[in-house]
Amino acid sequence: MKRVVLAYSGGLDTSVAIPWLAEQGWDVIAVAVDVGQGEDLATTIKRAELLGAVEARLEDARGRFVEGYVVPALHMNALYQNRYPLVSALSRPLISEVLVRVARETGASAIAHGCTGKGNDQVRFEASLSSLDPGMEVLAPIRDWDMTREDTISYAEERALPVNTTKSSPYSIDANLWGRSIECGVLEDPWSGAPEDIFELTAVAPGAPPFTEVEVGFETGVPVSVDGQDLGTPEVIGRLGRMAGAYGFGRIDMIEDRLVGIKSREIYEAPAALALIAAHMDLESMTLERGLAAEKRRLEPVWAELVYRGLWFSPLRDALDSFARTSQRSVSGEVRMRMGTGVCTPVGRRSENSLYNHSLATYGEGDSFAQSDAAAFTRLWSLPTTEWAKVTRSAG
Ligand code: ARG
Repeated sequence: MKRVVLAYSGGLDTSVAIPWLAEQGWDVIAVAVDVGQGEDLATTIKRAELLGAVEARLEDARGRFVEGYVVPALHMNALYQNRYPLVSALSRPLISEVLVRVARETGASAIAHGCTGKGNDQVRFEASLSSLDPGMEVLAPIRDWDMTREDTISYAEERALPVNTTKSSPYSIDANLWGRSIECGVLEDPWSGAPEDIFELTAVAPGAPPFTEVEVGFETGVPVSVDGQDLGTPEVIGRLGRMAGAYGFGRIDMIEDRLVGIKSREIYEAPAALALIAAHMDLESMTLERGLAAEKRRLEPVWAELVYRGLWFSPLRDALDSFARTSQRSVSGEVRMRMGTGVCTPVGRRSENSLYNHSLATYGEGDSFAQSDAAAFTRLWSLPTTEWAKVTRSAG
């Protein structure tokens, strides 16, 4: 029988995809990829088998996700439309890498994903898969099927499929260690506030002190410590996310422009990502030379947009990553972050590569700045506009 490797999340769409593909005559190999979503993936794998997968595999990609995807995103302070830290957009190319490897290992001739035709994820999967293996057949059963979410829920209910999504809890959720996205249901009304029970990573913990300070350490742009304790980057992400999340920090409620032209209402919670980007940008402001910093800030949204739009495997992303890596050579030091209800903000920074020179900046004792140099400088600086003003004035 012909084999297909299915990217299996355990959610509604990929769960109904298993019996559906089987009905079309495919042997389904379900692959659940651990990208730090913090779910019980052993249960997910069992569910895939119950649903009729001939094989179900769990692939741990957390290390590769952090090193190869999250760290480059942090280097570029990546926020789509200035707000969304690309949580799902980062995992799709990595999941595609895993799918292609499993397809080769199992002799499968096709790869399937459970995305609808309305979202960005279909584009990210298909653009990644065709870059990694142009000959691979790609199936998109949910897109072909064209059912509403309610129809899909009914299909699952009629067949008593073991899925968690019900008509009363109709959310579409995607999560990994960089954050969590929540769509559908009441959230589709952009005027309605998000119900409190959709949040898992962000809620003010009762009895928390009004403020907490925490020191985050970076080594060439990579987060490596919390409060002076050396940790792996995944642990820094985890710890910081829990701390900031317990102050209710990290929620994003936005109208987002999808690649397919739709505006959608999106709720995210990404306490670690937003805290680390804020800290990292702050340390860069101390350690990057002015011209490099300005050019980097100009390129950051280019990177974010490229990755949002599914072009991870592109020469532009490669080239931008080389730029980013070079820029990070001096980005080492510590940032002191202050957390309070709904906020997490830098309040101190230090670095052995600091370009902040107290004797140049001070208005007090020990000033080494040559004030007299400034007089000639300002005359030459304003020379073009001074000359222009003289000529326009004399011309009336
Ligand atoms: N709108 C976000 C993005 O395009 C989130 C997608 C979440 N995916 C999902 N299947 N719920 O990155």
